[in-house]
Amino acid sequence: MHPQLDVIKMSLQRLIFTPLLVVFMSIHSHALVEPSTWKHAPNKASVRAAYWPAGDDLSPSSIDTKYFTHIYYAFIQQHPQLFHLRVTEFEKKWIPQFINGLRDRYPPVKTLLSIGGGGSNSTAFSLMATNKHTRQVFINSTIHVARQYGFHGLDLDWEFPENEVDMSNLGILFQEWRQAITVEAQSSKKPPLLLTAAVYYASTIKLIGNGPRTYPIQAIRDYLDWASPMCFDYHGAWANFTGFNAALYDPKSNVSTRYGIRSWIESGMSAQKLVMGLPLYGRAWTLRDPNVHGVGAEAVGEAIDTDGTLDYDEILVFNKENGATIVYDDVAVSFYSYAGKTWIGYDDGPSITKKVRFARSSGLKGYFFWALGKDKDWTISRQASNVWGH
Ligand SMILES: *[C@@H]1O[C@H](CO)[C@@H](O)[C@H](O)[C@H]1NC(C)=O
Ligand SMILES: *[C@@H]1O[C@H](CO)[C@@H](O)[C@H](O)[C@H]1NC(C)=O
Ligand SMILES: *[C@@H]1O[C@H](CO)[C@@H](O)[C@H](O)[C@H]1NC(C)=O
Ligand SMILES: *[C@@H]1O[C@H](CO)[C@@H](O)[C@H](O)[C@H]1NC(C)=O
Repeated sequence: MHPQLDVIKMSLQRLIFTPLLVVFMSIHSHALVEPSTWKHAPNKASVRAAYWPAGDDLSPSSIDTKYFTHIYYAFIQQHPQLFHLRVTEFEKKWIPQFINGLRDRYPPVKTLLSIGGGGSNSTAFSLMATNKHTRQVFINSTIHVARQYGFHGLDLDWEFPENEVDMSNLGILFQEWRQAITVEAQSSKKPPLLLTAAVYYASTIKLIGNGPRTYPIQAIRDYLDWASPMCFDYHGAWANFTGFNAALYDPKSNVSTRYGIRSWIESGMSAQKLVMGLPLYGRAWTLRDPNVHGVGAEAVGEAIDTDGTLDYDEILVFNKENGATIVYDDVAVSFYSYAGKTWIGYDDGPSITKKVRFARSSGLKGYFFWALGKDKDWTISRQASNVWGH
């Protein structure tokens, strides 16, 4: 690709360890790509984003773009052994519909191709990130597919790096990815692709999988346009007690959005590069005893759906059809409802409003929804967008 890539890479690596040397080197290397252009200074433009699950009922051409600045196509996968992106018949059908449905819309939105997602192969990401050659194959393929279809950016949703080695390789991946994107933009004369990642709600992953492992904060801050903490999935039917999917505050534990966002900022992440996740879904349990229905009540597993997740619009229907009792918890800034043996923890207008205000007052770059259009008629999307202002 670029003949001087190795020199640049070397200076980038040094950037981490010997900043003074790099200042010196960059002064003496005007002929090269200015290394500082790889570092992405926070850009003031805010983000009101949402993920579109590919093949969803909601057609891309019916997305009301007033309420969004960025829409992610969710998800494409990498080949588990060869590590390039796999453009299957499914993608060949849906990606053009997505891009064409959103092209030339007013107001315009930017489109990102998101790689991975909750059900994706974490081991394959780990293997890919381990080795320079496989990272290059992956990076090259992501840029190729993004440009081929006309996306504005790329998003990685690796759920989740398993250990400190994965985290460290992830940092190297982001560095090389940014570098490749910069070089590609210079040769294609197109605006550089955006590079973002969906990440755990907190900067250290503690509660799932192996021992604690911390994200490569410096690489995330320097090489991504933004990172998107997934501030949800805090409590679900995998535990035997009811709890909120996405509490903003929890006086008794660290499993809250406030804790998570703070942990990112305290670890050195720029608040202006954080885009906070908001759920347009909730989680349902079957209560052991229908008369014991508070937060923390004993439960015997999921309810309604096989994994206990319910879209926001489905929850409203459930509540109505079953005459559910609805409770707002103003400490957690979350709702729950119950009817018979079913208990659902979820978000509704007032909790989303408070969370958007929290994101705004914390100086974050914006927010995103999982998933797009689960509020039918854009009720929550409109409200969030109005509260954020633009
Ligand atoms: C996940 O990736 C690993 C590593 O390439 C592979 O061995 C495994 O078969 C993959 N799992 C699935 C379900 O594809
Ligand atoms: C990336 O892919 C293109 C097209 O397949 C190829 O020409 C180029 O050599 C590749 N670059 C690397 C670094 O793999
Ligand atoms: C939930 O309860 C079941 C049986 O009552 C038990 O086997 C399981 O270990 C419990 N799970 C948790 C997370 O406590
Ligand atoms: C919450 O996190 C803080 C620091 O991150 C830690 O000191 C404290 O022990 C944690 N509390 C709980 C209940 O895990």
